[in-house]
Amino acid sequence: MVAVINQKGGVGKTTTSANLGHAIAGSGKKVTVIDLDPQGHLSVSLGVTQNHSGIDDVLLNNRTLQQQLVSVREGLQLIASGRRLPEIEQLSEEGARSGDLLRHALQGKLSGQDFVFIDCPPSSGLLVTNALFAVDEILIPMAGDFLALQGLSYLMGTIRKFERVFKKKYKILLVMSRYSPTRPISKQVLNILLQHFPEQILATVIRETAVLAECPSFGKTILEYSPKSRSARDFRNLAKDFQESRVMMYGGK
Ligand SMILES: Nc1ncnc2c1ncn2[C@@H]1O[C@H](COP(=O)(O)OP(=O)(O)OP(=O)(O)O)[C@@H](O)[C@H]1O
Ligand SMILES: [Mg+2]
Repeated sequence: MVAVINQKGGVGKTTTSANLGHAIAGSGKKVTVIDLDPQGHLSVSLGVTQNHSGIDDVLLNNRTLQQQLVSVREGLQLIASGRRLPEIEQLSEEGARSGDLLRHALQGKLSGQDFVFIDCPPSSGLLVTNALFAVDEILIPMAGDFLALQGLSYLMGTIRKFERVFKKKYKILLVMSRYSPTRPISKQVLNILLQHFPEQILATVIRETAVLAECPSFGKTILEYSPKSRSARDFRNLAKDFQESRVMMYGGK
C-alpha cells in the first residue's frame, strides 16, 4: 500500500496517482486508487463525478469498503473521496484513534490487489496522518523548483518522526513529476535530490507537457487521451520503474 504524499500543493500527486495507477493496471496488474483529498481531483481525473459517496462514509463508519469500490478501467478500481471527507480533518486528535481510521478500514480488505495508491491532500493534517498509519510505502512527487526542496525536508522530518514513534520503516521513493528539461533549476533540483536520496528517485522523470495538463478536464488518463504522446510513454516507463524499483543513479542525469 502506497501513499502519494507531498504537503506542497500542485506538485503532481493526483496526476501521478491517476496515470501511474492506470499504467500499472495496463500491464495486467490489479490496482486500486483511493482519493483521500476532499478536493476530489483524483475521482474527477478518472471521470467520476464528485458527489459520489466514497472513503468518507467508510471512515465515518456508515459503509463498508466493498460498497464504495467503483470499477473505473480494466484492472483499476477507485474509492472516491466523498462530500463528507472534510469532517475527518475536524475530528479531534484525541478522539478515539482518529489517526488510525483508514488503516483499520483497509485492514485485509484489499489483499487481492497488486497495488493500492492513496492520493493525499496537500496538507499535513489528520487525513495524511491516516495515510501514514495505513501504508508501508511512500511515493513523493517532486516539482522541479527550489521551494520544493524546503518542503521536502519538512516532509522527511514528519516521516522520520512517524518512523520513530510507531517503530516502522517506510520504503520511500521520489518521482520528478513536473520536470522541465529546458529550465536549469529543474536539473539543479534533481542533482541535489540525487545527492540526498541516492537510490530513491525513480529512473523516469515525468516531463511538464501541455497534454498532461489537459486530460483531467476530459476525465481521461494520458494513456487514453493521448496514448502515443511522450507523456504516455513517461508514465508507461514509470510504471515499469515502480514495479521493478528501478532508480536513478547519481551522476546518471
Ligand atoms: N508533468 C506535468 N505536466 C503538465 N501539467 C502537469 C504535470 N503534472 C501536473 N500537472 C498539472 O498541474 C496541476 C496540479 O497537478 P496535480 O493536481 O496532479 O497536483 P497535486 O499535487 O495533486 O495538487 P494538490 O496539492 O492540489 O492535490 C494540474 O492542473 C495538473 O494537470
Ligand atoms: Mg491532488
